[in-house]
Amino acid sequence: MAQIPEDVIEKIRSQVNIVDVVSQYVQLRQSGKNLFGLCPFHEERTPSFSVSEDKQIFHCFSCGRGGNVFKFIMEIENLSFPQAVKKVAELENLPIDQKYFSEGSSGSSSSQNSEQKQLIGLNEEAVSLFNHILLNTKIGEPALKYLRDRGVNDKTISQFKLGYAPNQRLLKQFFDQKKVDYQLLRKSGLFAEDQQGNLHDRFVDRVMFPIRDPNGHTVGFSGRLLGAQENMPKYLNSPETETFNKSKILFNLDFARPNIRKNEPAILFEGFMDVITAFQNGIKTGIASMGTSLTEDQVYDIKRITNQIVVCYDGDTPGQKAIKRAIDIFSPKKGFDVKIVVIPDNLDPDDFIKKRGVQKFEELLSHTQAPLEFELSFLKRNYNLDSEDEQTRYISEALKLISGVGSSLSRDLYLNRLAEEFKVDKDVLKKQIQPLISNQNEVENNLNQGSLSVLPINNVDTSKHLSLVQKAEECLLNRMLNYRDIWLKVSNISGFSFVDEQFQMLYLLAEGYFSKYQDYQIATFSNFISEASLQSLLIEIDMLDLAKDPTDEEINDYLAIIMKKAPVEQQLKEKRLQLREASKIGDEQKVQQLTIDIINLEKQKQQAHLEQA
Ligand code: GTP
Ligand code: MN
Repeated sequence: MAQIPEDVIEKIRSQVNIVDVVSQYVQLRQSGKNLFGLCPFHEERTPSFSVSEDKQIFHCFSCGRGGNVFKFIMEIENLSFPQAVKKVAELENLPIDQKYFSEGSSGSSSSQNSEQKQLIGLNEEAVSLFNHILLNTKIGEPALKYLRDRGVNDKTISQFKLGYAPNQRLLKQFFDQKKVDYQLLRKSGLFAEDQQGNLHDRFVDRVMFPIRDPNGHTVGFSGRLLGAQENMPKYLNSPETETFNKSKILFNLDFARPNIRKNEPAILFEGFMDVITAFQNGIKTGIASMGTSLTEDQVYDIKRITNQIVVCYDGDTPGQKAIKRAIDIFSPKKGFDVKIVVIPDNLDPDDFIKKRGVQKFEELLSHTQAPLEFELSFLKRNYNLDSEDEQTRYISEALKLISGVGSSLSRDLYLNRLAEEFKVDKDVLKKQIQPLISNQNEVENNLNQGSLSVLPINNVDTSKHLSLVQKAEECLLNRMLNYRDIWLKVSNISGFSFVDEQFQMLYLLAEGYFSKYQDYQIATFSNFISEASLQSLLIEIDMLDLAKDPTDEEINDYLAIIMKKAPVEQQLKEKRLQLREASKIGDEQKVQQLTIDIINLEKQKQQAHLEQA
């Protein structure tokens, strides 16, 4: 199947008016320059979905989705990009060469789609087989006993269609009898292939947890050993396949979604068993990633449903570290309201519910911590608070964290607590935190005055807190895309790159775009971007309310922030992390060296501020 060439795609896009296409799905009303309606991708009562006829893009202020007409069709019809191109062409009766969609002369509708369906079909047949073996056969008995011993009841087994893959490697035989195509079996992820190309059951002697996509289709499995076995992973997942992408899938999202929509927070667990046990006990908003840290894609999928997250990870140290990472990825920049549950005594939620009961667990859920509260107690673990010296060091680190809180009222509350906890004078703390705060404000003020008065006072999403560097990156990229001379100026600076990966990605994609097109048109550039989060970022950048004509001074300011301040800030972050690690393991020498480095970097940072002022 040939790939659809870029110019064919663009030709179709440019002949279609996005307003006509969107209108077939959403009732739109003109208001000012744009058309507005209720977002079709989530429930809402007041319209936050808009379409710009000028720019030929759509955007939802609330869920962040956006892009050109193809992107809209992909989302709403759940299609791949090529399928969306075809669909748009068909909607508008534009001719498109069928060679892009069918293999040989055979298929009419997209073959990829039907292959995915077939793969899902195989996975679902496997679900039934494994479930049958678990419930109705002698070889399934130990697995059934295992699940029952873990407190999993029959209803849960049937809801989650749990199963057992025995030693006998039945699956291959099962599909062979049905004469299922070898290539399809290969692609299903259910088999391991040896050097001769023979397929063998991948899952052997494991309790099988089907992994469903958001539509409830089983796209893969995770299989758990019945007991501990050396050199064997406790859980074995399906490999990446056409339908199973570990970094995208969230376990149980399909079951949890309707419950979350009732305005309950999504509860993010670490393990499948946590989700399942909570579910069995009436807590039905649990989801989990596949044993890996959360990805942007997953965050994006959650964002479509809710902005309320409760992170409920294991009480052990790795669990606590994972909470820190989750906080960072959900950080307020995306408008999430994140709360943390801390499970006591090193238990995981599954054990906790079983040992202490669901009522106690619900109590934990109603006593969540704010991210900063969690970060403070997380920080505290690194200090021996019996020593006055370490208390002082803890307090000064804590003040740094607190100084980052936007609201002065919340800051004050945290200071109260800190004063109380360590029996110190709050005024002293106030004095100590002041320079940290004004330091930040100083830069903000700096940016909001003079040439930088153009920095976006974000008029749509006030819940978003971008860092200073990110703001500068947004503005600069906006200018670069819209002004050829600025693009050339910046891209000719040797060693220039954006600090945040997302911006850097867009920049690289834009390079590709400009190698083909002279003028910038967002709807055309949108064709070049496959990742949803990048689409949203691009729209955000496009929507910045910047002054009409950029000045050199403005651009230089952005560059100064990105190129000068950013690296220092990043280095500081890293050094501080290393310092924590070093002090944890008691490496005095390293602690000393790192402290000196940090002081020097702080100096550099202040100098940069002064130069800027
Ligand atoms: P149980 O021991 O069955 O209670 O597991 P758990 O739910 O307590 O899981 P644990 O906290 O050990 O791990 C959390 C998640 O990490 C699991 O749900 C899996 O997704 C993943 N995981 C754990 N062990 C492995 C492994 O050996 N391999 C892989 N690929 N993933 C694992
Ligand atoms: Mn567990």
